[in-house]
Amino acid sequence: MKIRILPSLLAADMGRLAEEIARVAASGADALHLDVMDGHFVPNLSFSPDTAALCRRCLPEGMELNTHLMITNPDAYAKRFVDKGSTTVQFHLELRETVNVRALAALVQAHKARVGLALNPETPAEVALPYLDCADEVLCMTVHPGYGGQAFIADVLPKIATLRRHAPALDIMVDGGINRETAEAAARAGANAFVAGSFLFAQADMAAAVADLRARCAAAFASRA
Ligand code: DX5
Ligand code: ZN
Repeated sequence: MKIRILPSLLAADMGRLAEEIARVAASGADALHLDVMDGHFVPNLSFSPDTAALCRRCLPEGMELNTHLMITNPDAYAKRFVDKGSTTVQFHLELRETVNVRALAALVQAHKARVGLALNPETPAEVALPYLDCADEVLCMTVHPGYGGQAFIADVLPKIATLRRHAPALDIMVDGGINRETAEAAARAGANAFVAGSFLFAQADMAAAVADLRARCAAAFASRA
């Protein structure tokens, strides 16, 4: 499977956003991960559709803008993000009682974007299984969403393994507390896509760190029993 590395803009220097996006573009990463928070689904606020437009302007044409909606009403905003340049829209399955998951996935895909279904650390794999056929990727949160710089929750690893058993070819992404060691642990469990914020942005040489993370994850993913 393709190993994907996604720096998260949440950890960027906000005073130099355009330069930080350009740094990601030059790093060899597969995509930029954009965290959108509404102060309601999570207790924090972050980026808007205008930030997606800024990202689009600063990224090479064709580079993925992976947009993680931590908001209560993703159905009201998904198309706006796609119109501004998001090429993947991720929304949370904890909202499945109030958001029509299949209809929203179909809307995103109708606008030629990819769909990611996100799970908080406590949400079991069983919640995602009925929807795997309408997803391009599943995002397993390995911290409680809302803030960068938190510690990886290893209890999520068995869920990753369960999802991988059910979906051998699906992109399974982890997000939160990812560094060299936790990325390897997630890859051994079956993850093939890795969001990293504070770890990658703290590197003087982001390109070297992306290449190193990719090599470690590829080896760990291939070593699965
Ligand atoms: C957390 C966000 C993450 C965050 C990860 O709510 O979804 O994408 O940026 O940051 P680190 O890698 O610092 O844990
Ligand atoms: Zn995220």
